[in-house]
Amino acid sequence: MLRENKAVGAPHSRVDGPLKVTGQARYAAEYFDTGLLFGCVVSANIATGKIASIDIDHAACMPGVVKVFTHENRPAVAYRNSKWKDQVALPGHPFRPLENDRILFDGQPVALVVADSYEAARDAASCVRVHYLPNRPQTDLERNLDESYVPPVPRSEQSMPPPPRGDAHAAFAAAPYKISAEYRMDGEHHNPMELFATTVIRNGNGDLTVYDKTQGSQNSHEYICNVFGLASEKLTVKNSFVGGAFGQGLRPKYQLFLAVMASLDLKRSIKVEMSRREMFYLTWRPSSFQQVSLAADGNGNLISVMHHAVHSTSRHEDYQENVANWSGLAYHCENVKITYEIVKLDVSTPGDMRAPGAATGITALEVAIDELAFATGTDPLDFRIRNFAHRDQNQDKEITSKALMACYHEGASRFGWSGRSAEPRSMREGNDLVGWGMATGLWEAKMSPAEAKVRVSSDGKVYVSAAASDIGTGTYTILGQIAADCFDVPIDNVTVQIGDSSLPKTAVEGGSYTAASSGTAVQAASKRVIETLLKHAHVMSGTPLKHAAAKEVEIAEGRLVLKTNHQLGLALSDIMSFVGVSAIEELGVAGPDKKLAKTFAAYTHSAVFAEVKVDADLGVVRVTRVVSAIAAGRILNPKTARSQILGGIVMGIGMALHEKGMIDHRIGRIVNHNLAEYHVPTNADIDGLEVIFVEEDDNKVSPIGAKGLGEIGIIGVAAAVSNAISHATGTRFRDFPITIDKLL
Ligand code: MOS
Repeated sequence: MLRENKAVGAPHSRVDGPLKVTGQARYAAEYFDTGLLFGCVVSANIATGKIASIDIDHAACMPGVVKVFTHENRPAVAYRNSKWKDQVALPGHPFRPLENDRILFDGQPVALVVADSYEAARDAASCVRVHYLPNRPQTDLERNLDESYVPPVPRSEQSMPPPPRGDAHAAFAAAPYKISAEYRMDGEHHNPMELFATTVIRNGNGDLTVYDKTQGSQNSHEYICNVFGLASEKLTVKNSFVGGAFGQGLRPKYQLFLAVMASLDLKRSIKVEMSRREMFYLTWRPSSFQQVSLAADGNGNLISVMHHAVHSTSRHEDYQENVANWSGLAYHCENVKITYEIVKLDVSTPGDMRAPGAATGITALEVAIDELAFATGTDPLDFRIRNFAHRDQNQDKEITSKALMACYHEGASRFGWSGRSAEPRSMREGNDLVGWGMATGLWEAKMSPAEAKVRVSSDGKVYVSAAASDIGTGTYTILGQIAADCFDVPIDNVTVQIGDSSLPKTAVEGGSYTAASSGTAVQAASKRVIETLLKHAHVMSGTPLKHAAAKEVEIAEGRLVLKTNHQLGLALSDIMSFVGVSAIEELGVAGPDKKLAKTFAAYTHSAVFAEVKVDADLGVVRVTRVVSAIAAGRILNPKTARSQILGGIVMGIGMALHEKGMIDHRIGRIVNHNLAEYHVPTNADIDGLEVIFVEEDDNKVSPIGAKGLGEIGIIGVAAAVSNAISHATGTRFRDFPITIDKLL
């Protein structure tokens, strides 16, 4: 149906851009109501133990303070449906704010101070006195590796390692070329500009409108309904605009619970917004330890892959992500053994952070592949091409499309890879050691359940609505583009309404599923609108469409016409006036194709090339160029798509060089919980980034041919940078981030 590619495929600027840059787009913390109350959280300052006593008397008497909630006085309504879990919940016991006197992690909320101004709430929060009985915290993954275990309840099928194949140990033992190494990564914290915030507006009849910073309004809605026993229709959750999210907004966070709890108890409107420090307590990619052993035969063919991955989780939940399984399918290999374990620590539950699992596991794999290529004396790109996998060997399935070879060739050519001198330390520029490294990236390309409504009015205006979110990725824009093409109207004629729990059902925006899923739902709804129009057209007198089937018609210039002859048709306005309606609306449904999934696996792929310059005396690393070639099926909008990849590359550079959550393990506390001391790349750290989208025709991955783009941008970047630093310096770097102290 996306036949002429008028809007789809064009580099449209974000339709929500002007609203955002002029401050008209409102975020969760930007809604107000007369008499709005403000909540401020008191965070625990131990990592594990108990609250011995909590003294709120002074705080409660301070000017403007309305109430101080603690585990001792919180309303009993909480946790009414204790069995319910959110859509993205993990095996274990979800964290429940103010449940009891136990402290499970640094920064856990122990009280909510509610006042008539934010300043009063914050002031009083600083006067809540908490006495703790601390235990000795265990927060160091390295020191607790012997406590690792296989998660007894898998989070999903993908989080479980594939069965071993061949005999990886024997093949490794007999191989002429082999490498075996350990890779370590510190925890990373994802910090979008927008803080977690919830504004609860209590309407006259007691209904609640909740503005929540989330990647899924319906997930938050279900959470509130189930936890507080609220009737579904008493509550609407909105996330019309989201100021960035990288996975931390997939699960409801404690400010949502606290704000609704306080609003129900006080029968008032209230806002609770986290501080930047609280964001650090709560959102992080787990620290990890990996062991990768690879072997090649005399011809440079990969003959053994062994990947063991361990990462941290909390005491109360078994966070899991697919770290190592990629190693069983990235390259062709008959002998593979993948193992995966987690370690409980006194930390908050880690969460999905852009390309969860793959960002970690593929970094280790791709550094290891580089090491093995070097051991065999093969160019790292040639080595990868030689070991290209045409099937998903983990699942023994065909792949819907894999234009990775084009990524290798086009990326290498743009980068100038053929000019690379193989010898480490052999490329110099003045006092700089120059290094070129590369890596492969892959991420799954799947669909999640999604519905959308499309309405067309007789004046040619199109309205799209769905509960879907736009977390900054461009959902508004691409849904508008798809609808515009379905009805042959300019994108300005399309209004997209998303980010509202009362709209058609959509899964959380995560996993890079949204474009393919919601996009397909919009297309499906549009098709049904056209079918309905045709049904009416069939019975109109003198209709030229009497015998036309749905697949033979389309919409062009405001008319329903035969595809083969645009002269034959009827104006939409005439069809609608014939039935006496001013608009036609239909629901479209999309979701994973379970039958197809039995034979096909689907992935997005990338080839990342990086250049670094390392100051030979000071060890300062600068990433001077990155070329990322991406194969992601049909690119709906090259402009928003490119933004996704650019963001991913920057985050990958942060992973390679900067990002490191520092915990003082003696007290189990995060010490760099702010954007001054937690380093991320700044503009000065980022130089020439180039993104290439290679042609990839895929009519299986999704009905609109699109794959996801949210995650693939980061994957492989840290490995490419590490490989480039190794090429520059002649030393291997396996511990991330590669900070300057490691280079000296
Ligand atoms: Mo993404 S980590 O699936 O929001």
